[in-house]
Amino acid sequence: MEEKRAEWTNHISFILATVGSAVGLGNVWRFPYIMGKYGGAVFLFTYLFLIAFICIIPLCVELTLGKISRKDTVTTFNMINPKFKGFGWLCVLTVVLISCFYFVVGGWILQYLWLFLTNNIPENFSQYFPLFASGTTIPVILTILFLVMCAIFPFRGVNKGIEKANNIMMPALAVMLILLAIYSLSLPGAKEGLEFMFKPDFSKFDSTMVLTALGQALFTLSIGMGAILTYGSYMKQDTKILKSSYTLIGFDTTVSLLSGIMIFPIVFSFNVEPTAGPTLIFISLPEMFSKLPFPAVLGSLFFILILFAAITSGISMLETAIASMIENFKISRKKATVLLSLFISVVSIPSVFSFGIMKDFQIFGKTFFDFLDFITSNILLPLNTALICLIAGWFVKSIKKEAFGENILGNIFYFLLKFVIPLIFIGVLITGLIQV
Ligand code: PFF
Repeated sequence: MEEKRAEWTNHISFILATVGSAVGLGNVWRFPYIMGKYGGAVFLFTYLFLIAFICIIPLCVELTLGKISRKDTVTTFNMINPKFKGFGWLCVLTVVLISCFYFVVGGWILQYLWLFLTNNIPENFSQYFPLFASGTTIPVILTILFLVMCAIFPFRGVNKGIEKANNIMMPALAVMLILLAIYSLSLPGAKEGLEFMFKPDFSKFDSTMVLTALGQALFTLSIGMGAILTYGSYMKQDTKILKSSYTLIGFDTTVSLLSGIMIFPIVFSFNVEPTAGPTLIFISLPEMFSKLPFPAVLGSLFFILILFAAITSGISMLETAIASMIENFKISRKKATVLLSLFISVVSIPSVFSFGIMKDFQIFGKTFFDFLDFITSNILLPLNTALICLIAGWFVKSIKKEAFGENILGNIFYFLLKFVIPLIFIGVLITGLIQV
């Protein structure tokens, strides 16, 4: 069943969609913490340098591959050379595996939003969270509910679904984030919070910090899994790739920084140790919200904000796989969405149970949830990024002109693409493996 190729209605929709994909849990629960841990301003400058001169290259390349092929990930690599079709599927597999733990967290967000909206705020979140997450029925139902909330949009199509969702949720997210950040800055811990994030600590500058920054950049920019390629395939042909890529990076980094400005003043107002991941969002922060004035309003705003961030990222994960399924299995968009959702629901179950009845089921010493996070973030993302750069640099003739332009900068980026960037990400891959 041939679907007419969709196109974003205008440039703003394209930017909002890619920002929607990029801005997610990676910005809210990971970036601020690693920035504080790895030397504050020193990390920030290293990160900015790396995204501006290194990660910009695979980002432009993915967008360009989509723009040129106007097809899904699998077909795009198949068009370059049928030998690379399998690699296209590896990218799709990566994004599906990511969704199998990401959506579990989406389910938790729904539960917390419900708690704050209904003002049913537990007394002690450090007791509440493990108890809730180790449950069986409710976390599974909520994961599926979150999946359905994401799937409705690609089910409805690129313009009627995905574009509309991003056009509404992204500006709303920006407003909530700014309001909450301003509120946080009025708290007594604001100075210390900002100090934790921004104070330069040059002793933290080492290879671990650089590799962490690179890994974070791939995840947060949704690079290395065909998601950006897929959104790029819907862009208008006159879109400027390099400029759009820098715009995307600018928005994504601003959201990451504002998230830190929103979170750390609260954390430091209560003298608790800053943490990352589930503990930060589902234990420390909610505990502190409940001690501040208007906890229900504060908590609801915060969880709607992350819900929007997670949904727009979830949509792009699904769309990457759906677009490839439509084209390669010759099925309709609706059928592809339903089949994919069923698959993710099933594989997410052991992920949900990793916090309860399957806690002791370990793969390489990790629960199923942590294992999915590990193989995707530490292995597949750097591996795929290296391969995308090699394939584009060596097998796609027009890549230099289309992605970077025919000028000095274009020449430099093209050289980096062919010879340097693949090596860098293979280095990231090897160190990721050693860290097991
Ligand atoms: N970039 C998202 C984040 O920072 O949370 C994660 C993500 C989105 C990964 C979309 C993969 C994807 F296709």
